[in-house]
Amino acid sequence: MNHPHDESRVVALVPAAGRGVRLGETLPKAFVPIGGSPMLTLAIDGLIASGVVDHIVIMVPAELIERARDLSTLAGGRVPVSVVAGGAERIDSVRAGLAAAPEATHVLVHDAARALTPPSLIAEVVAALRAGVRAVVPGLPVTDTIKSVDADGVVTGTPDRGGLRAIQTPQGFEAQLLREAYALDVPATDDAGLVERLGAHVHVIPGDPMAFKITTPLDLHLAHALLADRPVPQAVSR
Ligand code: CTP
Ligand code: MG
Repeated sequence: MNHPHDESRVVALVPAAGRGVRLGETLPKAFVPIGGSPMLTLAIDGLIASGVVDHIVIMVPAELIERARDLSTLAGGRVPVSVVAGGAERIDSVRAGLAAAPEATHVLVHDAARALTPPSLIAEVVAALRAGVRAVVPGLPVTDTIKSVDADGVVTGTPDRGGLRAIQTPQGFEAQLLREAYALDVPATDDAGLVERLGAHVHVIPGDPMAFKITTPLDLHLAHALLADRPVPQAVSR
């Protein structure tokens, strides 16, 4: 949230326009409930509870815009929530969200599918931006051994695990940097990947296991179990 005399505007873009093919539910993934609340609602609640976001833009399948508006009205009105149609690929959805946030000085891109992300992690990403870091992502050490393989499934290498991180969201950026990265119009699997193409440094801060992405039925099962155990989320005190 803004400090007095602070001209900064932190806008969170929430990609929620995927189909959830790997999850295999009837509804698009962001609308699948966990403990009675759609993932999208949980993600919005977490962003609001962080206390560091001025505007939320959610990108959803075009046919679910009205439904998403109803959900975001329930979010309590403490932070304005805009709803726009996403695109065919996640990158198209983020581009649509970015166009709906012209006032942003800082942008968070945060997957609806990371519905249980702790508000404290969101606040830490914004704290890094406020400290002057232009691009920041949360990451966790990898616990599995990772191997590269060729088209025949034959191992071609085993990178040193110590130098690898599994990257989560929210990913935080100086807005101008992210706009330049999107203007490149090259493929990338995450937003930081685009910024890397500009040659900018992307900083990694410690991630949180609770920011895991709900991708498969096993993940959904885990999320249900975790939410059943979870106390009511606390707003971050600042
Ligand atoms: N997403 C999006 N627009 C797309 C594709 C994905 O906004 N065209 C969003 C998803 O809604 C999700 C996030 O990006 O919140 C991460 O994507 P992923 O986990 O791959 O979700 P889905 O694409 O829905 O799942 P799947 O790939 O299994 O279909
Ligand atoms: Mg996907």
